[in-house]
Amino acid sequence: MKLNIALLAGDGIGPEVIDQAVKISNAIAKKFNHEINWTPALTGAAAIDAVGEPYPDDTHEVCASADAVLFGAIGHPRFDNDPSAKVRPEQGLLKMRQKLGLFANVRPTFTFPSLIDKSPLKRERIEGTDLIILRELTGGVYFGERGRKDDGETAFDTMTYQRFEIQRLAKKGFEMAMKRSKKLCCVDKANVLESSRLWRETVQAMEKDYPEVEVSYEFVDAVAMRLVQWPKAYDVMITANLFGDILTDEASVISGSMGLMPSSSVGSKVSLYEPIHGSYPQAAGKDIANPLATVLSAAMLFEDMDLNDEAQAIRDVVNKSLAEGIVTEDVAEGGKAYKTSEVGDWLAANI
Ligand code: IPM
Ligand code: MG
Repeated sequence: MKLNIALLAGDGIGPEVIDQAVKISNAIAKKFNHEINWTPALTGAAAIDAVGEPYPDDTHEVCASADAVLFGAIGHPRFDNDPSAKVRPEQGLLKMRQKLGLFANVRPTFTFPSLIDKSPLKRERIEGTDLIILRELTGGVYFGERGRKDDGETAFDTMTYQRFEIQRLAKKGFEMAMKRSKKLCCVDKANVLESSRLWRETVQAMEKDYPEVEVSYEFVDAVAMRLVQWPKAYDVMITANLFGDILTDEASVISGSMGLMPSSSVGSKVSLYEPIHGSYPQAAGKDIANPLATVLSAAMLFEDMDLNDEAQAIRDVVNKSLAEGIVTEDVAEGGKAYKTSEVGDWLAANI
C-alpha cells in the first residue's frame, strides 16, 4: 500500500517523539512492503515563528490532501505566560480540528501488564481496564461565542451544541460499542446545563436504533470520581469537548504515564493521530520524553487503514520494550532510563 502521511511535529517534545514514530512506521513499511511518503508541515509556535500563524494555509493543504496526519504536540510557555498574546499555538490546533472536520476524538485508556504498579492507583482497581473516551472535538465551549464586556470586567465562553453535532458523535459511540462490549455511557451535566439536556435527549432518541447497546447516563462530576475508583465499570463513553478534555487527562493516570496514551481524531475526511500528552516544554530537546504515545498513535493510524497486522506488530514491540525495561525515565522508576531516541531505535530494530 502507498501511504501519504502529513507530518506535523509541532512544538516542545513534538519533533523528538514524532521522529521515533517515523522510524517505527518506516520499519513497518519495510517489513510489510508498504511505501510511506512523509510530508512535513509547520504548526504551533514553530509556525508562528516562521510565518506568523499557528496553522498556515500551506499546512492545511498538506493535511487535507494526505491519507492521514501524524501530529506531535503544540504549545509553548512563552505564550502561556502572556495572556495578551494575539496569536497562540493552541489556536492552530483548534483551527486544524475545525478545518479538517475532526469532530470525534478517540482516546483509549488501557493498562500495560508490566506497568500496572507504576500507576498511583491500586492494581486490583485498574488491571484489565479497557475503555474509550469519545470526545466531541469541534464544538461546545471551545468554539462557542466568547468575549469580554463591561470594560473588560466580565468574560464569557458559551457552550453551544447543535443536535446534529451530538448525533454524529453519538453514532460513532454506538457503532464502537457494538464492536466492543455493547455498553455506552453518555457523560454530561444534564442536571444543570441546557446543552447537556440536548445531549441526553438526542442520545435517548437514538437508543432504539441500537437495541443491543446498554446505555447509561452519568453526570461528569460523578464520572470524574468513578473513573479512578472503578475504571473497569466503563467501556465506551461519549462526552462534550471540555468534559472529554478533562476526563482524558484524568484517565491517563490509570495507565501510569501521560506519555503512553495515543489518540485519533476522525471526521468525514482525513484522520489525525496524536499522543494525548502536550508539548512538555521542560523536556524539549533533552531526548528524555516517552515516545510510546506517539508510536501507539501510529498503530491506530495503521489500524484505521485496515492494516491490522501492522498495528499489532507495533503494539507487540511496545509491550516487549516495556517488559524488557527499554523505557524512558518517566516509567523507569529506579531502573535504567533510556533516551527517547534509544527507545525508538530499539523498537524499530525489533519490528
Ligand atoms: C488536548 C489539549 C488541547 C485541548 C489544548 C492543547 C488546546 O489539552 O488535546 O487535550 O484542550 O483540546
Ligand atoms: Mg487536554
